[in-house]
Order: sequence, then structure tokens, then C-alpha cells
Amino acid sequence: MIHNKSRTYAELMDQRDSLNGYRNLFNYPKNNTGDPLIYFCGNSLGLQPKAAFSQIKKEFSVWSNKGVLGQDSRWIPYHERMTKTSAKLVGAKETEVVVMNALTVNIHLLLISFYQPSKKRHKVIMEKDAFPSDQYAIKSQVELHGYDPKNSIIEISPRDKEKIIREKDIISSIIENRDELALIYIGGVNYYTGQVFNMEKISKVAKENNITIGFNLAHAAGNIPLSLHDWEVDFSSWCTYKYLCGGPGSPAGTFIHENHHDWKGPRLTGWWGHNKKSRFEMPSSFDPIPTSEAWQISNAPIMGMAPLIVAMDMFDKVGMDNIREKSIQLTSYLQYLIECFLPSVKIITPDSRGCQLSIIVPNGRKIFNFLNQNDVVCDWRNPDVIRVAPHPLFNTYVEVYEFIQIMKKAIEQET
Ligand SMILES: Cc1ncc(COP(=O)(O)O)c(C=O)c1O
Repeated sequence: MIHNKSRTYAELMDQRDSLNGYRNLFNYPKNNTGDPLIYFCGNSLGLQPKAAFSQIKKEFSVWSNKGVLGQDSRWIPYHERMTKTSAKLVGAKETEVVVMNALTVNIHLLLISFYQPSKKRHKVIMEKDAFPSDQYAIKSQVELHGYDPKNSIIEISPRDKEKIIREKDIISSIIENRDELALIYIGGVNYYTGQVFNMEKISKVAKENNITIGFNLAHAAGNIPLSLHDWEVDFSSWCTYKYLCGGPGSPAGTFIHENHHDWKGPRLTGWWGHNKKSRFEMPSSFDPIPTSEAWQISNAPIMGMAPLIVAMDMFDKVGMDNIREKSIQLTSYLQYLIECFLPSVKIITPDSRGCQLSIIVPNGRKIFNFLNQNDVVCDWRNPDVIRVAPHPLFNTYVEVYEFIQIMKKAIEQET
């Protein structure tokens, strides 16, 4: 991709950007003088769609005017409003997805079903330094089954002096350990480095070796295109408050491949997973919905879902192909300017990536503080990384240009 160093180029790119209008559909945090901050933190919490508030107000008004009478036609099937959009987002059939709970809660619910260790096959492959919640979840599940995490968890690390896990190391570890593996569980996009793993290939090798495969897609959903059904992924979950802009703590998406819908194995159950026709007859025996919805336990958190419905509709309207196309351009522009203007900055994110670049710079913590004090929102992850993620729906090329100028000032001041 060929870019240019001038500000005029950034302005021109914004004028030509077919997604430019979407910026106006979001609210921006502002500085003391009322100017919008440069918000490159959509990988942590996406910005608020302006229409989110009116959607919540609508539900409040139904609650206020109808009480429980709002439930029948409106709230009982509320989560179904996101089925079609979620399926398109992750490349699934509509029966394979459901929005429910929070991410780590879903991971546990899925592991209860899909991690079934035996004496011979009890091991789990995961990436080293996965997001802490994933480490805790896997460790606690291993312990729940009476195994020792030290013997049962295989962590794949980057090689010595490297930051990125090599795909071939994941594959060779799967092959090497295939007779003892009960599960492969990996983040589709690593939260720290921004590395996108080759999910298609990993899933293929998992299937060839009859090993269950699950992905945490927290940093992938809404960031990169996915084909979970075709890749034959067994299960997955993703939060919706990052790239998808559903609001703090918005309910998570979940995928269970249709191969498992006639499930006879273990599952934690609740009334919301029961056959919709007889649910309110209050039967004492569980008759599962024959789709991923059978894994639901409780009725949907309507107020938490309301903003997400608005955000998902917006994503659906734009389409992942358009989002990805701009994301590739915008992040490659960021990389280009870093390489032109900031020689002391090291990008650790590989080319296989989404929006995010993870960068390391001398005096990183001080540089990060300078950015914060100068109207840039990005984040710091110990020990030494600044994560910068321009979001294709609400960030501009001029913001990337401005960010580089502020970063340049920060580096000059701190060295
Ligand atoms: C990769 C990953 N896993 C798990 C979580 C935890 O999510 P939650 O608190 O919604 O369960 C996050 C949150 O940022 C994450 O990035």
C-alpha cells in the first residue's frame, strides 16, 4: 500500500473514505476545550453510537408503560434481533450463534461442555500469556476435573528473543501432543501483540487429529472477517464492547457448531435454554432448544442489550468487507508514518493483524503518559507495550497523522 507523508494526503484520504460519514454517528470523549480526543482504544471499549441512548430510553418507556406486559412480544425474543447480524459477523449459520451473558462466563459454560478430559487425553494447548481471564478459566476447569494444570496445560510461547508465536510451533505442538490433547483453546487475535492466528489452519489440524477446538474472539469479532462454520470450529465466544461498540459490559456472542446441536454431553442448563413453546408451562424436565440457544441459562439483560442492537445493526449495514478494507488501509497508514517519523518505535504486531498495532518505545511509560495528557486515548499493557488501534468506523486518517505528530513530540521531549 503506497502512502504519503503529508497532512494533505491524510485529508484527501478522509474525503475519499466511503465510511467517513459513520464518524458522525458516534459520541466522542472531549478535552477541556471541547475538542474530541484522538480515540484509538476501540480494541478495549468501542465508542458510543449516538442512537444507543434512544434505544435504552425506548426499553425504559416500555417498562414504565407496560411493566411485565412488555415481555411477551418484545423482550422474550429480544436477543433474537442480533442472531442474523451475529451470524454474518462470524461466518456462522443463524442457529449456531446466540448473544448471552459475558465473555468469561460463556467460556466457562462452553468448557463445561467441550472440555471433557480423560486419563489419556486431558491436555489443553493455549498461547502463553493469553489474557489473564483465559488463563484463570482454563486452569480452574482443569482443576475442576481433578487434573494438575502443570501437567495438563501446554503453553505455546514465542521463541527466545521473539515476541510473536510462530504458527508452525502451534501446529507442531498439536501434532506432537495429539494423543494426549482434549482441547485447543486460543485467542483468534492475541490481545497483547495484535497477532492474528491462522484459525482456519489450526482448526483443520485440530479436526484431522480429532481434537476439540475453541477460539476466544474478543479481539477478532468486528475486527477481522471470520468463517467459523466453514472452519469447523467447535465453539467460540466474543465480547461485544470492544470493536462492536455495544457499551461497557454488553452481552457476549457465542458460537457452537451445528455438529453439536444434538448434544448429549454435559451442559449447565437453565430455563432460557428450554424449548420456547413449553418454557412458560414450567415443566420440570429440560427439553433443549435444538440450536446454540440451548446453552442459554437466563433471560436476556434487556438494558445491556439495547445499545448492542443499535451497534450491531450499524456493523451489519456497513458490512465486514468494507470495515476490513478501511481497517487495512488505516493501520497500514499508521505503520507507514511510524516508519517514516519515529525510528525509535518498534512495532511488534506482525503483518497478520487487525486494527491494532502494539508498539514498544524507549521510556514507554513516560511517552504513554504524554500521549494521555495530550488528548490521545490508547492503552498501556505491562511490561512495555502501547496498544494503538484506529477503528475504521470512527477514526480518520487525519487523526492518525495528528497522533504521529504528538508521539514525535513526546519522544523528542523524553530523549
Ligand atoms: C482475550 C480476552 N479474554 C477475556 C476477556 C474478559 O472479558 P469479560 O470481562 O467480558 O469476561 C477480555 C477482555 O478484555 C479479553 O480481551
